[in-house]
Amino acid sequence: MNTPASTPHLRLADRPAWKALAAHHEQVRNLHLRQIFADDPQRGERLTAEGADLYLDYSKNRVTDETLKLLLQLADECGLADRIEAMFSGQKINASEQRAVLHVALRAQPGERIEVDGADVVPEVHAVLDHMAIFSESVRSASWLGYTGRPIRNIINIGIGGSDLGPVMAYEALRHYSQRDLTFRFISNVDGTDFEEATRDLDPEETLFVICSKTFTTLETLTNAHSARAWSLRKLKDERAVQRHFVAVSTNAEGVAKFGIATANMFGFWDWVGGRYSMDSAVGLSTMLAIGAENFRAMLSGFHAMDQHFRSTPFERNLPVLMGLLAIWNNNFLGAETVAVLPYEHYLKRFPAYLQQLTMESNGKHVTLEGAPVDVSTGPIYWGEPGTNGQHSFYQLIHQGTRLVPCDFIGFCQSLNPLGRHHDLLLANLLAQTEALAFGKTKEQVEAEGTPAWLVPHRTFEGNRPTNTLLAERLTPQTLGQLVALYEHSVFTQGVIWDIDSFDQWGVELGKVLAQRIIPELESTDEPKLAHDSSTNALIRRYRRLRKE
Ligand code: F6P
Repeated sequence: MNTPASTPHLRLADRPAWKALAAHHEQVRNLHLRQIFADDPQRGERLTAEGADLYLDYSKNRVTDETLKLLLQLADECGLADRIEAMFSGQKINASEQRAVLHVALRAQPGERIEVDGADVVPEVHAVLDHMAIFSESVRSASWLGYTGRPIRNIINIGIGGSDLGPVMAYEALRHYSQRDLTFRFISNVDGTDFEEATRDLDPEETLFVICSKTFTTLETLTNAHSARAWSLRKLKDERAVQRHFVAVSTNAEGVAKFGIATANMFGFWDWVGGRYSMDSAVGLSTMLAIGAENFRAMLSGFHAMDQHFRSTPFERNLPVLMGLLAIWNNNFLGAETVAVLPYEHYLKRFPAYLQQLTMESNGKHVTLEGAPVDVSTGPIYWGEPGTNGQHSFYQLIHQGTRLVPCDFIGFCQSLNPLGRHHDLLLANLLAQTEALAFGKTKEQVEAEGTPAWLVPHRTFEGNRPTNTLLAERLTPQTLGQLVALYEHSVFTQGVIWDIDSFDQWGVELGKVLAQRIIPELESTDEPKLAHDSSTNALIRRYRRLRKE
């Protein structure tokens, strides 16, 4: 086997394109977007690209044609084209876990062939989708009944991380398309409050739990699943009720069976689907229950359209590649440490939270594929809120603070809930923000308004804040799939440039292991022997003294 260590890689900062970008940055660092636009009146039409149904305007980034040329050269030097092919053809590009990375197979069309270890995985993907469709339809049409013969009215997904954030985000995003007589809730936190508040007004006779966990070992999910079982059985009083009120989504059939869920009620997926790349696998069961199989398949077709675009479009017109390379420029050359994602679509309110796991669990890495320390900074911090709410909260810092915060603005030309002037007002704000961030307001402009001299500095906007604008016609299951796939592949593009493994997550392990050691120390009735540092020991003692039995 070709271990990752056997492939020599040039350090990133030593690559010719990287060095050229560093030198180029020295030349353009003081260039202002005002000047760049004035020099090229067509820029706003030229620096745009379309992929599937998404339109990307990247003209308001601090880049020149030379910057873009060098970034594309960097992508070539880093072997991006080969890495894309390696992913799509099922090679084990998740090097530290020696796994294929095939979320693209989850949306492959029937008849396509994608092999892992010599076996075509596409038929299995469609078999699970068919199983999900049959089950969803039976619940949605009330032919699947609870143990006491009542139809299911409430569906609760229990999962965390990739087994929660995707389902929550997709449910909120596609709520417009959901079956409104079904109630959906999501429990993730091991904090009992999450469970209590999600269940307190529900009747176990009408409630179905989807226990969603790739490993079926995750502390939070199993704790909540056992509480759910106890909550159900307190009313239903018979173990056999579990089969009507619990289904599982997992790769761990043994763990599911041990919990007491029948294999027939388990929806499988595979180790080549990373948790944060799994919302379009069986992990999307709650999504399908909400929007129906047809809409779910439409979402998959959106993912697939963006996959095709990513795989086959020349890099200079390739949305995920362009967004990934611009993120590298902003992060590594302009020194930005974060990216704000600002959807002007209220249904996308959980999209930034979803992206936090996708981007930061993927690219928050400190070593290269070979295990050497990275020589440049990696994954920026992603965060955001829907517009226009954020405008009245943190935008002040983006406009006039001392930090550079590149932003992704996301908007749709049609509202799903047309209401008087609302949508024009919403979109006017999106456009105004990108304009203000790019061009600001000069001292001269402020003075010309008759502003008193002492107030001028306060009312001046430097501008030159980079933004991307993503525009689509309407938020549909297809466009949601395209949007998610766009970010998935942009994250991958960045990971390839940094030469890191975007598909492992060793950084979450240490805390999990230490928690397992501390749990008995908190729960034991005897005074435990504490062998931690003095801070942790003191906190444990204080907690034990103050907690209520
Ligand atoms: O702790 C991080 C993580 O492993 C994520 O990568 C994953 O999405 C989440 O936990 C949940 O894991 P599981 O689906 O196995 O319960």
